[in-house]
Amino acid sequence: PIRFVLDCDTGSDDAIAILAAASHPELEAVAITTVGGNVALEHVTANTLSVLDLVGAAVPVYAGADRPFLRPDLPIPRDVLNKDGEFQLARLGFPEPVSTARAENAVDFLTAFFLDDANADVTLVATGPLTNLAVAVTAEPRLAGRIPRLVVMGGAHANGNVTAAAEFNFWADPEAAEVVLSAGIPEVVIVPLDATHSAPLTERDCAEFDAIGSPAAAGAAMLLRHRLAHDQAAAVTASSPVHDPMCVAYLVRPDLFTESVRAFASVETTGDRTVGELLVDTRPWCPEPPNATVALRASVEVYREFLRTAFEAADRD
Ligand code: BDR
Ligand code: CA
Repeated sequence: PIRFVLDCDTGSDDAIAILAAASHPELEAVAITTVGGNVALEHVTANTLSVLDLVGAAVPVYAGADRPFLRPDLPIPRDVLNKDGEFQLARLGFPEPVSTARAENAVDFLTAFFLDDANADVTLVATGPLTNLAVAVTAEPRLAGRIPRLVVMGGAHANGNVTAAAEFNFWADPEAAEVVLSAGIPEVVIVPLDATHSAPLTERDCAEFDAIGSPAAAGAAMLLRHRLAHDQAAAVTASSPVHDPMCVAYLVRPDLFTESVRAFASVETTGDRTVGELLVDTRPWCPEPPNATVALRASVEVYREFLRTAFEAADRD
């Protein structure tokens, strides 16, 4: 199997990523680290444990940063998905977590893990603010070169979602995102909103998951319906982007992204209106060498196949 560590802020689409990853026969989640983001760190960690308990997956969980790299406060979104800023999966029918997080901090875990030669083939997938990783690569300068591949959901080449310029994960901790993109990690794949919005899921997907019927599929259907209701209430469309699982889908289905660009990518940390903006410099005369591959479009068919394969395998377990 393809081994990876997931750094996340569960979160509804982070939860679907965990359900799919824990179920897919070709994926092995070696560990999960948590970071404050969609909700406060304590709820992120509890949500992550709830998801793992639902599917009986014994993946070690390490809690990390509860606030951004430099900024004092985490800007927790309050929207229909997260009315009181305390989106808790146990309130949505997921089990109250029985398992607990490890005592070791996520930053210490990530550092020791990737410095270990035995883990030179493990991808790091990040689906929340990049705080843990920014702290780790800053404290241990050898670390960036030892993470073979980072696949990160964040940014937007076209419009953002929090502001016209910025997507949530990069906006919530822009300094962390900039530190990580400029750290020198050998292979960086950025999955921005351009890719995730190009392959939204619909009620038809929920019905397919219902038909599969495994706890993982049922959990994903419930979370996807929640997202669809939210997006419909916001009068957008009858389909919803499901961002984070695309990062794990890409690990087994590199054909997921049908258009991408290699470029120098950086994150704005100061602009009044543009803080958190991902800048993808595709100018032929860009003075900096490319540091990332940025996905621009995804195939919804490939995405659906990935999710179906994962949830059907869960059914057989
Ligand atoms: C990102 O922000 C979070 O709300 C989602 O989990 C995803 O990681 C999308 O902007
Ligand atoms: Ca997330």
